[in-house]
Amino acid sequence: MNKISGSLDYLFDPRRVPPKGFFTKGLDIEVKDLFKTYIITPEIQVKALRGVSFKVVKGSLSVVIGPSGSGKTTLLNIIGCLDKPTSGSVLIDTIDVTSLNEKILEKIRLSVIGFVFQSLNLIPILSALENVALPMIAFNVPREVRIRRAKWLLNEVGLSDRALHKPFELSGGQQQRVAIAVSLANDPPIVIADEPTAELDYENAVRVMELLWKLSVEYGKTILVSTHDYRIVTKSNTVFRLEDGKLIDIYKPTEFVEVKSSKTSEITDILRKRLSRVEEDIKELVSRYSRGELSLEDFNREYSRLRNLYDALRELLITISK
Ligand SMILES: Nc1ncnc2c1ncn2[C@@H]1O[C@H](COP(=O)(O)OP(=O)(O)OP(=O)(O)O)[C@@H](O)[C@H]1O
Ligand SMILES: [Mg+2]
Repeated sequence: MNKISGSLDYLFDPRRVPPKGFFTKGLDIEVKDLFKTYIITPEIQVKALRGVSFKVVKGSLSVVIGPSGSGKTTLLNIIGCLDKPTSGSVLIDTIDVTSLNEKILEKIRLSVIGFVFQSLNLIPILSALENVALPMIAFNVPREVRIRRAKWLLNEVGLSDRALHKPFELSGGQQQRVAIAVSLANDPPIVIADEPTAELDYENAVRVMELLWKLSVEYGKTILVSTHDYRIVTKSNTVFRLEDGKLIDIYKPTEFVEVKSSKTSEITDILRKRLSRVEEDIKELVSRYSRGELSLEDFNREYSRLRNLYDALRELLITISK
């Protein structure tokens, strides 16, 4: 299929990009049985994704969490139309983007998906303002709209006084926010951010996270974020846990920890309590099974769920305590 059917076409019109504001609402994303094998030599192959399926509901913020090498970047790159899977499909709205040709994918990358790279990708010789305006030039947005919008976006991310700074004249957190402004230039319905808080201190991580949350809650955009960072996990609608290229579990963020406080010591405390509750649940499950109240199948399913939750909480606790 080389032509896009009707449902995404309206997004390819640069006249929908406003000088201020976000008007384009999010779209559903569905990932179906995604496999990705990197072939290095015929003998050496890396199975980075091994049958991943899930849905991201439009207007929500979802998080992909998992250890280094579990396949987060690979997955986000494929959903973001930067790479093709070995097999499986990605539906954006109703369109299977894995079967589209490069010309249409280019349009999608420009106007449908805002991508925030793990390595940022800002252009060093351009100012923050010029970096934000660049995707609009590529999309043929009129010059007057471009300039007003780039200024407005920098103001939205709290950087109006840094518009003329080049990336190397900005802090890591500021660069991260410029990168988010760049991803929002063409008012895309979907924003994908690969570890946007990895390099940031607590305060900056919170600002970035709140910005992403606002994009979903206030503007109805679909946001997909990968992270090791528990703060992102708590401000989200759904958490997908990847391990070794497989989707191990899907959580509601409240299953991790409800954070009302920003103090690390208090969060650690809440996590410890949550861990011991999960331990109690596991003990209770084992005794119910030994009393014959559960089938082996039910026991296995629930045990595996609790065990994964336990491991995830422990990993978060270790990350926070570092
Ligand atoms: N271009 C590539 N060629 C070959 N192997 C790759 C390539 N990109 C990733 N891999 C391998 O695929 C696996 C998944 O990598 P990926 O970058 O998706 O993990 P990740 O979860 O994003 O890790 P991190 O948290 O460190 O960013 C790893 O084993 C990695 O070495
Ligand atoms: Mg990665």
